[in-house]
Amino acid sequence: MKIFEVNAKSASYPIYINDSFEGLLSAFEKAGLFGRKALVICDSNTERLYLDSILEILGDNFLTVCHTSFEAGEKRKNLETIYDFYKVMAENKLDRKSVVIALGGGVVGDMAGFAAATYMRGIKYVQIPTTLLAQVDSSVGGKTGVDFMGGKNLVGAFYQPEFVFMNTKTLYTLPEREFSAGMAEVIKHGYIIDKDYLNMLFEKKAEIKELRTSAITDILYGSCKAKAYVVSQDEKETGLRAILNYGHTFGHAVESLLGFKLLHGECVSIGMMAALALDLERGVITEDDYKAAEGLLKYFDLPVSVRGLSARDIHSQMFMDKKTKNNIITLVLLKTIGEAYSDSSVGSEEIDRAILKITGE
Ligand SMILES: NC(=O)c1ccc[n+]([C@@H]2O[C@H](COP(=O)([O-])OP(=O)(O)OC[C@H]3O[C@@H](n4cnc5c(N)ncnc54)[C@H](O)[C@@H]3O)[C@@H](O)[C@H]2O)c1
Ligand SMILES: [Zn+2]
Repeated sequence: MKIFEVNAKSASYPIYINDSFEGLLSAFEKAGLFGRKALVICDSNTERLYLDSILEILGDNFLTVCHTSFEAGEKRKNLETIYDFYKVMAENKLDRKSVVIALGGGVVGDMAGFAAATYMRGIKYVQIPTTLLAQVDSSVGGKTGVDFMGGKNLVGAFYQPEFVFMNTKTLYTLPEREFSAGMAEVIKHGYIIDKDYLNMLFEKKAEIKELRTSAITDILYGSCKAKAYVVSQDEKETGLRAILNYGHTFGHAVESLLGFKLLHGECVSIGMMAALALDLERGVITEDDYKAAEGLLKYFDLPVSVRGLSARDIHSQMFMDKKTKNNIITLVLLKTIGEAYSDSSVGSEEIDRAILKITGE
């Protein structure tokens, strides 16, 4: 088992990475959570796949253990589902000492975290992320919330868990497309934070795709470390944390124009190709680097371009991004491979040329 500590300003907590759920129970004990009431929150898929094992592991070490689930998917990431959670919490008389356990992907984690952050002004919660995206991205950093009136994550809170426990084997049941979507964020971490990590991804791409335990452990560890570093510098996104949006301003535009038909990670992949095109034009990366990035994304079955959307529509949509303020588009660009920064002075033509690379007009 690998363990490392996230040191955010508001809290520090361990991330455990193992190839089974062994060690989960002792993580609860170490966090001082035995003897309390616990509520496991899952979705319809993680309920079917993992709830029984988790309940068995928790055993009789808690005062009571109850559970609730909702139909899997982003559609249910809203306040009505949170309301259902509150009802279960109140009916089971969860109190300030109780603990919420998020068992699932980013949708479960964001919502369970938000319910925990707000029930009785905040009770403890634990993350057991089961998608690659949740393991390398959403379970680290303490952003919780729900979608509201068409706005993604419009209502939420920064709230850190007591610990995060990931079992690499949960990826065996994950649909391949979901795995690939998570890989887009993993590859992003390499480009924006750590060149050695990126090189490792190139070297071990076959082992990663085959879900070899040691390679998967390496990416969970590497990506969590990269994200935790950023979060430790800037928990509430007043500066550095924005670099995690590399490829996202282009990607979000594609994502909403396509009516969320593509997965977020797939749009991030397309968006990164536009960002890399800008980096190439600015001479920060070479043509070979650009081609290599494209090859790596494709290797993981990620799209690198989009058909049926015009550059003009994508550009206009970028003004709707929640990170666009006062009509100024802020893009994350590379200083060099392994280091990124935010730039609010990218010219309109430059942006157009980058978009043309992904629309192929
Ligand atoms: N908090 C953050 O910092 C942050 C960062 C990135 C994304 N997010 C949020 O994360 C969400 C996306 O997360 P996601 O991609 O994990 O989506 P998800 O939670 O919907 O999971 C994707 C699908 O995989 C299923 N699933 C989960 N684990 C499985 C397993 N082990 N085997 C088989 N199926 C499994 C789910 O039931 C679902 O159908 C979005 O709502 C996004 O806003 C949050
Ligand atoms: Zn993302």
